[in-house]
Amino acid sequence: MKGILLAGGAGTRLYPSSAVVGKQLHTVYDKPMVFYPLSTLMMAGIREILVVSSPADLPRIRDLLGDGSSWGIDLSYAVQPNPGGIAQVFLIAERFLDGSACTLILGDNIFHGRMDLGHVVGEFGRGANVFGYPVDDPSSYGVVELSPSGEAVCLVEKPKTSRSNLAVTGLYLYDGDVVDHARQLVPSPRGELEITDLNRRYLQLGQLSVTELGRDIAWFDSGTHESLLETANFVATVEKRQGLKIACLEEVAYNMGFIDTSGLERAIEAMPRSPYRDYVERVARAVQRCTSGVRSGCTVSP
Ligand code: TTP
Repeated sequence: MKGILLAGGAGTRLYPSSAVVGKQLHTVYDKPMVFYPLSTLMMAGIREILVVSSPADLPRIRDLLGDGSSWGIDLSYAVQPNPGGIAQVFLIAERFLDGSACTLILGDNIFHGRMDLGHVVGEFGRGANVFGYPVDDPSSYGVVELSPSGEAVCLVEKPKTSRSNLAVTGLYLYDGDVVDHARQLVPSPRGELEITDLNRRYLQLGQLSVTELGRDIAWFDSGTHESLLETANFVATVEKRQGLKIACLEEVAYNMGFIDTSGLERAIEAMPRSPYRDYVERVARAVQRCTSGVRSGCTVSP
């Protein structure tokens, strides 16, 4: 399974901040937004990831994330020349995918909690899988309606009234046919290749499954000033209360077994003195306590 992190877009709702730097490079409390979706892919066990962004932001994101080797992952990059829609990413990613199944995550989607994504990814076979999340106001989202037996019945974009309160989040699994399906899409009236249209194709084929995320998961789409602030407040509150960071990539990489203790030490040495580095040093000390220098597979937290 390969991963795609889509981190372009117009970001008009974040104007004028997005005129300076793209949405995904905005800070969510103590780290750039793009760290959060990247950590979600990593926690799913995905190591080969294509990052797609706008011509202006791609070089900055590449400067920030590099080739991924310090986290034991393989990052490559591609430009989306214009925000031509989320589903356009599959045309851009055709060579990268080379017929593989993939997990797509949107760069402004932040998940927190035990999603067991590695299991969902491991079990994934044919078709597409979306993740539904209950929301108070479905009218702002793409919504999926389920049959009593939990099968997807229809997908509605920003419904005025809806029998379902399950929003479709910005995390999707697709089989190796996704590029062919994306090629069949026609631009919507707003000129974009719509991800909902792609998902509808799978639905019509009877190949769309839905994983419902429960109340133990927090999901944020931080595309507006208000939701950005809410997300940042959430991250700050949880991190302060627990003394544990959300989306610390070095910690995730170690706990996923992508890097070993020496990889962790190298990552620390490359960081300037900062509270973030202090935290990763605490992770490294916890590793030493946990393993006495020999990795035993235990999950560490500082
Ligand atoms: P949106 O929030 O739907 O769009 P946007 O980021 O352009 O913002 P706005 O509506 O305020 O203008 O995008 C969801 C995610 O998908 C976000 O992470 C950006 C990304 N995206 C792209 O990278 N390319 C695109 O063409 C589109 C439409 C979105």
